[in-house]
Amino acid sequence: MGRQVWYITTPIYYPSDNLHVGHAYTTVAADALARFHRLRGEEVLFVTGTDEHGQKIQKKADQAGLSPLDFVTPIVDYIRNPLWQRLGISYDDFIRTTEPRHREVVQSIFQTLLDQGDIYKGVYEGWYCLPDESYWTESKLIDGRCPDCGRPVERVRQESYFFRLSRYQDRLRAHIVEHPDFIQPPSRRHEMLNFIDAGLEDLSVSRTGVSWGIAVPGDPDHVIYVWFDALTNYLTAAGYRQDSERFNAVWPPNVQLVGKEIVRFHTVIWPIILMALGVALPTRVFGHGWLLIGQAKMGKSMGNAVDPVELLDRYGVDPVRHYLLREVPFGADGSYTEEALILRTNVDLANDLGNLLSRTTAMIERFAQGRVPARIAERDDGILAQEAARAYREVEAAMEQLAISDALTSIFRLIGRANKYIEEKKPWDLARSDDRVTLHNVLYGLWETLRVVSVLLTPFLLETPDKIREQLGLEQPVENYREAWFGFDAEGIVVRRQAPIFPRIEKNDALATDGKEVDITASATIDDFRKLDFRIGTVRRCEVVDGADRLLKLTVFDGQRDRTIVSGIRPYYRPEELIGQQVVLVANLKPVKVRGIMSEGMLLAGSDSQELSIVAPTKRLAEGARVK
Ligand code: MSP
Repeated sequence: MGRQVWYITTPIYYPSDNLHVGHAYTTVAADALARFHRLRGEEVLFVTGTDEHGQKIQKKADQAGLSPLDFVTPIVDYIRNPLWQRLGISYDDFIRTTEPRHREVVQSIFQTLLDQGDIYKGVYEGWYCLPDESYWTESKLIDGRCPDCGRPVERVRQESYFFRLSRYQDRLRAHIVEHPDFIQPPSRRHEMLNFIDAGLEDLSVSRTGVSWGIAVPGDPDHVIYVWFDALTNYLTAAGYRQDSERFNAVWPPNVQLVGKEIVRFHTVIWPIILMALGVALPTRVFGHGWLLIGQAKMGKSMGNAVDPVELLDRYGVDPVRHYLLREVPFGADGSYTEEALILRTNVDLANDLGNLLSRTTAMIERFAQGRVPARIAERDDGILAQEAARAYREVEAAMEQLAISDALTSIFRLIGRANKYIEEKKPWDLARSDDRVTLHNVLYGLWETLRVVSVLLTPFLLETPDKIREQLGLEQPVENYREAWFGFDAEGIVVRRQAPIFPRIEKNDALATDGKEVDITASATIDDFRKLDFRIGTVRRCEVVDGADRLLKLTVFDGQRDRTIVSGIRPYYRPEELIGQQVVLVANLKPVKVRGIMSEGMLLAGSDSQELSIVAPTKRLAEGARVK
């Protein structure tokens, strides 16, 4: 049977502590790739899980006064739900290395390699890094410390089983050279070739004095080394030696995502296990970069771990996924900051996408009685059709390359282009002219672009595609990537405009309430308050500011003169709604230039997570009346 299934894996995580945003990063990336392939109609196997054996976990369990299994189980449960559940991780299999199916496979493989002479018994003398669970020879240490993490190592001397890596060194090297895609990105590939060229030493693959692990078959004083146990999970999950039909359909993995610090395990030890078994190597092992806090890797032991569940509580799933997938080119290291998450949400989701949707549905309501017009001619929406086709191709190409953030950049370029198209075509002017054909084509083009965007966003964001579609008047969820083809016959569909899909996050609302009391005692005195001059004014004119999606330019009569006020309320009001409206303005602010326009004051407005409303008197007052 040939291969039919697109198989992707994440590393299996140590359940020694709750996971942090760094772990979520790998898993969300794998999820977006899995969803993308499913959307293209492929059958996908997406596997993640937990790496539960080893000395480190044993020590932690001892400290907690629990058996290792009792110690890890609640952490594993928490990882599955709420963590992966709420992040929308659509795994097909979650493997725990403590499961019987896994133990059987590990022992059976170990036995085969022993029988073949690839594993032999000897004496290990050298250094061990406990936090990394890795063995080192004297020559590999850097300043006497672990070359991977820089932490102190401990001296060990014990009887041990060894895996003859050296026997496969040349074959592995040849494989890496002949398959440029095997290790990606290329920088990691060069690193690994250098590592191999320095010479592979046989690897100690068992320990004595540790009880928490899988026993060496026939020699129960020895426990199999955690990395040998852990790497084998990818075989277990594929049904190796247990379900040959499944295994043949699934193997080898198409993509294995790993953090850069564990590329070595996945591109030296892992392929050699497979070579020794006579099993095909994975098509691609991709080593992605780290999320950093300042200059340091985010990590529990670094004391800078950010809890993803807290972020989900605060911002919701799509802003978190969008940030993780878009912010850092996949492969490179990148800084994590919550401010950047807020900015991404406000700029991309609330502003660019949210405004395009609310403007488009509002215009269809006003200029086409709420129904999507027929596409009469391609002459007007041609540019959007072209840009949509380009995004369709670019997303596909980027996802093939695992350039996930590039895929999102292409989608947001299309959104940006559509916003610009509104400014160029000025549907409000077309509505005043007799040119219904152009007006209708423009409205169709915008609606259709948003429909395409809802399809393209489907692998990345969970709730947003349906929210967009609901407002567009579409009932069906997205089913196939090909639906992202521009030109859908939408005539007569009734749009359903609702509140903005992404309310803007006010940084202070989000950050200041982060478990801390907001200090309101240190606030203004009555004298401070009196310094501000609040007055009633009436809006006489109101227009949009070209090239600024958020801004309206208002002319407000303050009892003495007309003032120009530029205000960021455009997502919430149509200009004509405000004409004649009374407002409260702060009259003695120093004028500031906004987009080249001198703004002479500010309007008072209130906002919550859904809406923004300007503050107005409940009875009409003379312009210039003081508000205090
Ligand atoms: N259990 C091993 C993997 C065995 S795979 C056969 C392990 N576990 S881990 O929990 O320590 O980390 C797993 C993965 O989490 C890393 O490879 C990496 O993908 C991810 N990350 C952990 N911290 C990270 C960051 N700060 N940034 C990005 N990814 C990070 O290693």
